[in-house]
This record gives sequence, C-alpha cells and structure tokens, in this order.
Amino acid sequence: MRTPLLVANWKMNKTMAEARVFVQQLQTLTLPADRTVVICAPFTCLSTLQTELSVGPIAYGAQTMHWAERGAFTGEISAPLLLELGCRYVIIGHSERRRDCNETDVTVNKKVQTALHYSLIPIVCVGESLQQRQANATDQIIRQQVTAALANCDLTKPLVIAYEPIWAIGTGLAATAQQAQAAHSVIRQLTTPQIQIIYGGSVTPADIAAVMVQPDIDGVLVGGASLLPADFTKIVSY
Ligand code: PGA
Repeated sequence: MRTPLLVANWKMNKTMAEARVFVQQLQTLTLPADRTVVICAPFTCLSTLQTELSVGPIAYGAQTMHWAERGAFTGEISAPLLLELGCRYVIIGHSERRRDCNETDVTVNKKVQTALHYSLIPIVCVGESLQQRQANATDQIIRQQVTAALANCDLTKPLVIAYEPIWAIGTGLAATAQQAQAAHSVIRQLTTPQIQIIYGGSVTPADIAAVMVQPDIDGVLVGGASLLPADFTKIVSY
C-alpha cells in the first residue's frame, strides 16, 4: 500500500517570514496519519522550515539541485548541502526548468542518480505539451521521459514520479481525473509497485477528492493552490 503524498511546490514565492507563518498555521491541523505532506520551498526558506518543522510530521525539500557533489558550479546547490538543511525531498526536472534552464532527459537522469545516492527522495517531473497531446503522443512522451529519467537508477529506493502535463500547469485547466489516471497507468507499467506517482497541474481543493480516488494516483504536486494556507489545508485534509 502506497502512502498518499501531498506536495506543495511554492516555486519562487514566499519570504522566510511568510514561510514561517504558513507552516505555523499548517501545523495547527491534525493531519490524518495515513498521508505524507511535503513542502518544496525556495532555498532561502529551507533553514526556516528546518527550525519550524523539526518536530511534527511535515517534511520539506528543494525544487532543484545539481548532479555534482561539489565544485565550480556558480549559483547551484548540491545534495549534501540540501541534506545539511534537513531536506528529504527534491523536485527534479520540473517542466519550467526544462523550458527555462535547459534541463534535459540526460541532466534529469544524472540528478536522479545523485539524489538516490544521497537518499534524497527525488520527485521526478514528466509530462507532455499541448501539441504533443493533440498529436496523440502523450503516452510515447511520458514513456520516453520516465525511461530516460530512471536509467541506471536503483528503483528499490524511495522515488516519486510527478505526472504534470505542461498545458495544465498554472493554467487553471487541470487534466480530468480520467486523463490523469490514464497517464499514471502508463507510468505504473514502467516502474516498480512501491514508487509513488502523483499528479500535478492546476490542482485545487475542488478536484482533489476525484483525483485521489483514481487507482494509480498516489498524490498531488500543487503549485498555485499551495500558496494559501486555507487552500493547501483543504487539499491535505481531502
Ligand atoms: P499549479 O503548478 O498547481 O500552479 O498548476 C503545479 C506545478 O507546477 O507543480
């Protein structure tokens, strides 16, 4: 049985003070014990989360990292540096980074290997563009991205795949629960049973229940609706 996983992706939002207020509010909730809640925050908020979340069940992580352990990579962050800040998770290969920071299937694979080596849980993002969906290439694209991301990886270690169709991210146009389930079942066939597969793309409190009942959907990766404590609270207590 895979534990439901609810992940906030704050992207480039929240000051340290805002992060503190947010998690203090979230911690007043009594979360059902059968689920995992994770906040993926900007690097600058991670030490705040380390302080605020040192007790309690909420985990946190980063939104990217470099594949190298250390060295001359100006502006980058490594797995050991994230571990020092108490991170347990790291998002890898988000479509915004593939688009804006030239991340490729090759660099995503290197990062996944490094994360696993350091026992950070990678949340590996895959998903098709609108043109690819309209050309009926969705299954082929996600198969290609998942296979490339996981090449030479130890799949007995904890790992998460996030199916995030690019056309659904930040658009308010979420995939239907059926579309998401169909893509998840393609991914499920390529992975081992304990790997969690979560959906991302315009998730809101209104559609979380329909998403979570799908057999191959183990959770959600939430951008916009994770910025307001009221919305994220509803999502995590679905
Ligand atoms: P969204 O973002 O919920 O704002 O669509 C999701 C994501 O990019 O992870």
